[in-house]
Amino acid sequence: MHIDVALSPAEIALLPQRDLSGVTCVVFDVLRATSSMITALVHGAAEIHPVCTIEEARALRARVPDAILGGERYGERIDGFDIGNSPLEYGESVRGRRIITTTTNGTVALRACAQAERVLVGALLNIGALAGELRSKSPEQVLMVCAGTFETFALEDAYAAGVLIAELEPATKTDAALTVTSMAASYPDALVALKVARNGQALAASGRSADVEWCARQSKYNVIGEMSASVIRALPA
Ligand code: MLT
Repeated sequence: MHIDVALSPAEIALLPQRDLSGVTCVVFDVLRATSSMITALVHGAAEIHPVCTIEEARALRARVPDAILGGERYGERIDGFDIGNSPLEYGESVRGRRIITTTTNGTVALRACAQAERVLVGALLNIGALAGELRSKSPEQVLMVCAGTFETFALEDAYAAGVLIAELEPATKTDAALTVTSMAASYPDALVALKVARNGQALAASGRSADVEWCARQSKYNVIGEMSASVIRALPA
């Protein structure tokens, strides 16, 4: 297995021009988009449709009126949307439902990987299950995609990528993969890393520490989310 990491939104913007045909992508937006998606799948959401813009989300909902419309801009629920992007909003009420979501970085990163052989939704919440899936399928090339925040690198995404890479020995690694692996090992646990991260601090400052604590619960769930034809579903258990 050869492992690379896309560390920033600038690299992600180039992915649609890259040949990803033999690549398994794991997309991390730990605070909070991909953690909310895994939470929704854990609670039995039928499908998640990640889209890049608010306009696309509204247009899709016009065609699928029974879907839940979720997402954020600047961390807040979007006007007219049913829910925001807190994982705590993706509980029992999403069971059996379709969700359309648009977020600043997470949904954009997922869609940028559309041409990959496989696209898995990455979170700390299910990182043990992701490691098991990658070990058993043993793809030749894995790309960890760290969604970041606006235009910049986000510590929590790189941390999660590093935790996952550490579970995937033996593997050859790019410098980016080596760097995130040793960075992740320098924190005693996920909550410490997420609290240090700029996004963790911003969420705490806006009264959302519970979101940070939720997203830091490592390997709590076995659900794996895979995006295929722009729709995310849970893999059969
Ligand atoms: C994003 O996609 O940029 C986020 O997950 C931001 C957020 O949750 O506030």
